[in-house]
Amino acid sequence: MEQNLVSRLRRRVRGDAEEPTLRRLWREHASGADFPDEFANISFVTIPQLKLIASELRVGPGKTLVDLGCGMAGPALWVARETGARLVGVDFSAVAVGLATSRAADLGMSGQALFVTGTFAIRASRPRRRRGDE
Ligand SMILES: C[S@@+](CC[C@H](N)C(=O)[O-])C[C@H]1O[C@@H](n2cnc3c(N)ncnc32)[C@H](O)[C@@H]1O
Repeated sequence: MEQNLVSRLRRRVRGDAEEPTLRRLWREHASGADFPDEFANISFVTIPQLKLIASELRVGPGKTLVDLGCGMAGPALWVARETGARLVGVDFSAVAVGLATSRAADLGMSGQALFVTGTFAIRASRPRRRRGDE
């Protein structure tokens, strides 16, 4: 059941034959025609924007890029591949983490990318540290 859902989601996100119209509209109006299908995503990010992000973050070999709310991690995997940085993706959706993990494997990036289920919610009850605290 879960595997079925994951397969369907993978086909949908990657714009396989069953969704050619959606994929075409997305390329024309959101991601841009130059966005590689293997990194497809549901964000509105473009390749020039990802290049800017990569350059501003100054990530590269020996550095780690962390994507909080990585989803299926198309944009983050693209940045990691282009820059040589390691990637850690975090998402509270186990399905998204599974999709990101299998996408990294398909791209030959399993050794470069790790995806974990988790949340980046701030714990409001955590006591604030004061100067002099250990
Ligand atoms: C719009 S998707 C973006 C995915 C990816 N960053 C991209 O650009 O394709 C937002 C993702 O954030 C995750 N998310 C939202 N709130 C979160 C939280 N508090 N902790 C962890 N993940 C969260 C969702 O599960 C979803 O996969």
